[in-house]
Amino acid sequence: MKPVRVALLGCGTVGSEVVRLLLDQAGDLTARIGAPVEIAGIAVRRLGRDRGDVPVDPALFTTDALGLVKRDDVDVVVEVVGGIEPARTWLVEALKAGKSVVTANKALLAEDGGTLHDAATEGGADLYYEASVAGAIPLLRPLRESLHGDTITKVTGIVNGTTNYILSSMDSTGAGFTEALEEATALGYAEADPTADVEGFDAAAKAAILASLAFHSRVSAADVHREGITEVTAADMASAKAMGCTIKLLCIAARIDDSVSVRVHPAMIPRTHPLASVGDAFNAVFVEAAAAGQLMFYGRGAGGAPTASAVLGDIVAVSRNRLAGVRAASESRYADLPIRPMGEAVTRYHISLDVADRAGVLAAVAGVFAKHDVSIATVRQSGRGDDAVLVIVTHAAPDAALTATVRELQQLDIVRSIASVLRVEGIEAT
Ligand code: NDP
Ligand code: HSE
Repeated sequence: MKPVRVALLGCGTVGSEVVRLLLDQAGDLTARIGAPVEIAGIAVRRLGRDRGDVPVDPALFTTDALGLVKRDDVDVVVEVVGGIEPARTWLVEALKAGKSVVTANKALLAEDGGTLHDAATEGGADLYYEASVAGAIPLLRPLRESLHGDTITKVTGIVNGTTNYILSSMDSTGAGFTEALEEATALGYAEADPTADVEGFDAAAKAAILASLAFHSRVSAADVHREGITEVTAADMASAKAMGCTIKLLCIAARIDDSVSVRVHPAMIPRTHPLASVGDAFNAVFVEAAAAGQLMFYGRGAGGAPTASAVLGDIVAVSRNRLAGVRAASESRYADLPIRPMGEAVTRYHISLDVADRAGVLAAVAGVFAKHDVSIATVRQSGRGDDAVLVIVTHAAPDAALTATVRELQQLDIVRSIASVLRVEGIEAT
């Protein structure tokens, strides 16, 4: 049996677990694939780094990733380095040469997935990336295979574990964002630089990948409306609780009137919503399809072993394809749907205002909502001497109308400050 030869690019959190699984499960993998998998080489940045826990011949390591990719004895390139360059150059080189590629690189796929798909088509090669969204959760293959006969209408997900840990902690302990972030960092959930997570960049990249697959169109990270969780306060969480809700960082991709709406932002969701009970650093994705109805995918969205599990699944798939002399269906982007501007997304708002407590204030505030054709669903007021806090929840309205309403409220003399503005999802308009 001629072995399938794998070039592994990266041997960090995910890569070291890929090595471990390849070695631990060698016998089963051979049986499942029909040929053994051999590691041809491992590209890393620092040859001198202690890799005592990676049980392979040290001679396999190299810093010349491109040279490794180009080797004639390499069939499959597995990229678990991350970032745009040089990863894009390596993968384009591999794909154009007909080598199968497995990658977990959501940033690259979301920024320039089209270049990778085009290279895969040119080289007649497989491009698999199950690990790029929601770690261990089998999600991309169901979207691109199992649900291919159906029409997906909406994908709503918690796709970032760090922010889910922070928000879950704020919900259960009443802590503020900074305190919850410090705890997440101390426990190793948040990275030293948490920007990509807490500002929503990571979730936006995943949203782009999900939207591309679900709606057969090329959607990039730049197409995703993105807001992070840094502005979410303990008061917001308390207010959510008072409404029977919690706050989650949601990625929402929806097909609306033959266009694609993709957004990532924190939102209040009712505690009865299937995503509300997703705690800790777990991920979950809720898929709605015309015939299938509602589907929920849940599991670990990060971590070395869970992510490596998804990578291994892809290695098995591309290896079997190579042995059978076939390749998977190429990128499906025939629908080519345009991106719907965020202003046209229909959402509900929860707005907390500090106002002067005197006659006519409520009428003036309500007048601004009416002017922008935004219907108010509920109003709660709590007094504070001369001041009062007004909490207003709207019915669904175009985001542009809600934004204009908030902007005009800020101009009113009677509005001392707008303490918070949060979207509300998963509650049907009444
Ligand atoms: P790490 O930072 O732990 O590992 C990165 C690896 O890439 C290291 O082995 C590093 O080498 C190597 N590397 C960096 N630059 C180069 C270079 N120029 N040439 C060769 N090798 C290089 O990253 P992770 O394992 O956490 O993540 C890898 C990928 O998987 C990323 O795309 C990430 O987004 C994705 N991913 C990660 C998840 C996770 O939970 N960690 C979850 C889902 C996806 P050295 O060891 O010498 O430093
Ligand atoms: N939803 C109504 C409004 C409240 O905003 O005007 C009173 O009917």
